[in-house]
Amino acid sequence: MGIHAIVGGQWGDEGKGKIVDHFSASADIVARYQGGANAGHTVYIGDEQYVLHQVPSGILSPGTRCLMGTGMVIDPVALAEEINDLADRGFQCQEQIGIAYNAHLVLPVHRMLDGISEEDSRDKTIGTTRRGIGPAYTDRSARRGIPVAAMLDADIFEAAVKEHLRYANALITDVYNQPSLEYSEFQDGLSAARDIMLPMITDVSRELLDALATEKKIISEGAQGVLLDIDYGSYPYVTSSHPGTSGVSVGLGVPPNAVTRSTGIFKAYCTRVGEGPFPTELLDATGNRLREAGGEYGATTGRPRRCGWFDAVLGEYCASLNGFTDLCITKADVLGDLDEISLCTAYQNSSGDFLNLQNLEGAAPRYETFTGWKSDISEAESFDDFPEEFKQYLHAIESALHAPVSLISTGPERTQLITK
Ligand code: GDP
Ligand code: IMO
Ligand code: MG
Repeated sequence: MGIHAIVGGQWGDEGKGKIVDHFSASADIVARYQGGANAGHTVYIGDEQYVLHQVPSGILSPGTRCLMGTGMVIDPVALAEEINDLADRGFQCQEQIGIAYNAHLVLPVHRMLDGISEEDSRDKTIGTTRRGIGPAYTDRSARRGIPVAAMLDADIFEAAVKEHLRYANALITDVYNQPSLEYSEFQDGLSAARDIMLPMITDVSRELLDALATEKKIISEGAQGVLLDIDYGSYPYVTSSHPGTSGVSVGLGVPPNAVTRSTGIFKAYCTRVGEGPFPTELLDATGNRLREAGGEYGATTGRPRRCGWFDAVLGEYCASLNGFTDLCITKADVLGDLDEISLCTAYQNSSGDFLNLQNLEGAAPRYETFTGWKSDISEAESFDDFPEEFKQYLHAIESALHAPVSLISTGPERTQLITK
């Protein structure tokens, strides 16, 4: 059966949480493979809003196992809070969640360093979520990070955190001239989080390999989006992990060919939070209209999202890079009252080398214009209910990205989803 990967095809916030939730209802396992508390994945059940940050979006489907893979960086204090909040709302996570031994920990000092480096004039401002993601992955690569497994023994854990703090405090005081952080300031929070996490720590890779061998239905949940990939995104304006299909294998400890379906999630337009190039950005009234109509404010930080037209040039890049077998288009209902809709199908002055940032920054989009459908598609019950103009727009995306649209989300609610 293999793994069905759900991957963000743009700069994040495409609606992955909602789609993962949809597939979770019939899945045995949902597994996150990268990122951490920088993610904000929204699911609506009726009027109830759930925003998942580290816990996989499968948690809202009772009985579905939710795994947090090796590729993640996990903030224990934030995770404990998220698990407690879910419990208060009737979702007991203890039995459902499994946390990989080799995932790395995000400590309070990582969050602090993320904020400090965003504000220090010697560092580039990326517009990060300040959740400590970059510093935690940096420490993992530099082999001074702390894997989840260190939590298994209280003494080993305390010694590891103190040792790490010694290094981090030298950086904070000597390089950044900021006051150091004391272990006692976060000791209790970390200890309480450890108590919650301990029974969940497990061999995620083994569990998935066994599940693959017994034909279990497995969904992998991507966070962020392909254009934020550390190697294939708009570096340095990226996150520090691999949000794409190729991140699934190394992030979960499964062979690359375990992924048998990869669905790219794309908004019917485009958004981006933070700094970095955005060729189709609309800095005008239409951009503002998209932001308000689409509620485009960050699910994690509340920051206004930058808005623009669908970029099919970058879309094709992401689709081919990730081998998308099919596409899911979300939020087309937001475009329902526009007279005309533009789709970027080429750049006037780009060689197509998107790994060269200058190229992307200088890209001048060439647009194809589509007649707006001028109707509310949020009540549609089948693909046949969609207006012809909308079908033409979808067809243009399929042609440009060389992949079929299989799903159309027509509103935020769990059930507002049409299978083509
Ligand atoms: P994620 O990070 O990819 O899971 O996406 P976010 O949750 O950060 O942002 C997507 C936002 O759009 C959330 O507020 C969702 O509730 C909402 N949403 C998802 N699909 C649709 C849709 O088809 N139409 C509308 N209007 N909203 C949607
Ligand atoms: P979901 O999973 C949108 C962006 C930040 C910043 C850059 C680096 O909800 O789609 P980081 O904190 O990761 O070091 O920030 O990446 N970013 C996201 N943008 N959605 C996200 O997650 C994001 N996670 C990080 O805004 O530009
Ligand atoms: Mg989000």
